[in-house]
Amino acid sequence: MRGCGRRLRLLDPFAGSGTSLVAAARLGHSATGLEVNPFLAFAAGAKCYAGTWAEKGFNRTIDRLCGNGRLEVRSPLEGVSTFTEREGASRWLFNRSVARGFSAIDSKLDRRTGPYAPLRLALLAAAMECCNARPDGKCLRYRQNWESLGYSSEDLRASFQKRARIIFEDLTAQPLPRNAVKVRHGDARASIRRIRSESHDLLVTSPPYLNSFDYTDVYRPEMFLGGFVQDNQDLYEVRLRTVRSHVQANWRKPINVASPMLVPLLERLNGSDRLWDHRIPSMVQAYFEDMQDILREGYRATRKGGQAWIVVSTSAYDGIEIPVDLIIADIATRQGWLLVSVNVLRGLRASGQHWKHLSPGAKPPLRESLIILHK
Ligand SMILES: C[S@@+](CC[C@H](N)C(=O)[O-])C[C@H]1O[C@@H](n2cnc3c(N)ncnc32)[C@H](O)[C@@H]1O
Repeated sequence: MRGCGRRLRLLDPFAGSGTSLVAAARLGHSATGLEVNPFLAFAAGAKCYAGTWAEKGFNRTIDRLCGNGRLEVRSPLEGVSTFTEREGASRWLFNRSVARGFSAIDSKLDRRTGPYAPLRLALLAAAMECCNARPDGKCLRYRQNWESLGYSSEDLRASFQKRARIIFEDLTAQPLPRNAVKVRHGDARASIRRIRSESHDLLVTSPPYLNSFDYTDVYRPEMFLGGFVQDNQDLYEVRLRTVRSHVQANWRKPINVASPMLVPLLERLNGSDRLWDHRIPSMVQAYFEDMQDILREGYRATRKGGQAWIVVSTSAYDGIEIPVDLIIADIATRQGWLLVSVNVLRGLRASGQHWKHLSPGAKPPLRESLIILHK
C-alpha cells in the first residue's frame, strides 16, 4: 500500500489478545487497539510490553516468586460457584492447591518486579494449563479424567516458570519499541469516536463473527482469577457492551437496516419457525447496525489513501445463508469506502447446534473472507 517504507499507524477496534498490534510493532509500525474484554485488553497490553530484562534479574525474580515465602495462600475464589472444590460440588475448575498457588505468586508480583504485566499473563496462562476444564469452541469443557489429573500448586509453578522463560527469551530476542502500541479498554462503538480524524493509515481487524458465540463466557476463569470482574453482574456488564453478535444479553433493539441486502434476509429469518432462538432476526439486524457504526467511524479515523483490512466469516440460521462479508462490503461503500476486493481465505465447517435439524443438502457452505477497502 502507499506509504509502505515509512512508519504506519494501525487501528484495530477489535484487538482481542493483540495479534495485529504485536505484528505491527514488530514491523516497526505503531498501533492502537480497542478491546471490550478487560482480560483480553490486559493480555494485549502485556504482549506489547516494551523493554528488556537481564538474565540475572529474571532468575532472581523467578526464585522470589516461586521459591521464597509461602507457596500456597488462601484464594478469594474458594467456595465461589464452581471455581474450587466445595461440599456438594461434583466438579470444579481449579483444585484448591492450584488456586492457592496462584494467589501465592500473585501476591508477590508487584509493579516494580521486572515486566509485571507479561509475568501476570504468564501466571494466568499457567493457571489455565492446570485448570480442570479447557476452552472448546464457545464453551469450557472438562478434561477427560480431570479428577485423576490431580493438578497442584507444584504443577502451576512449573508451568509458570516455563512460560516466564518463553517471555524472557522473546523480550531478549525481539524487544518491541517503546510507545509503539496503545491499548484502550472499552466498547469500540464508543471509544472509536474519540480517535482523531484521519489519524491512522490502516484499519486491520477481525470483528466478532455473526455466529452467536459469546466469548465472555470462555474467558470466565481468567476474568475472575485475575480480578478483572468481581461477580456475575460485572461479567454481564462486559457482555452487554460486546457487539450484538449473540443472544446472551438483553440488547437494545436495532433501529437501522444498514444495507438493502439485508431486507430479504430479515424477511426470511422472520418467517422461519425453526430458529433456535426467536431473537436471531433482531441479532442479525443489530450486528450490521454495529458494523455500520465501526465502518463509519473507522473511515473518519483513516487518512485519505489509507485502507481497511477486515477478516470475517459468513453465517447461516435455519439454512438461510448470511453473506456477512458481502453485506459488510456493501455497508462500507455506503460509509465512503471504496471496495477493493473480497477474498475468500478458506471454507468453514458449520457448528452442530445450528444445523442439527437440517438435511446435508440444506447446509450452505460457510467461508472466511478478507475484505479490502480503500479511502
Ligand atoms: C474475532 S475476535 C478478534 C481476535 C483478535 N484478532 C486476536 O488476535 O485475538 C473479536 C474481538 O472483539 C471483541 N469485542 C466484542 N465486542 C466488542 C466491542 N463492543 N468493543 C471492542 N471489542 C469488542 C471481543 O472481545 C473479541 O476479542
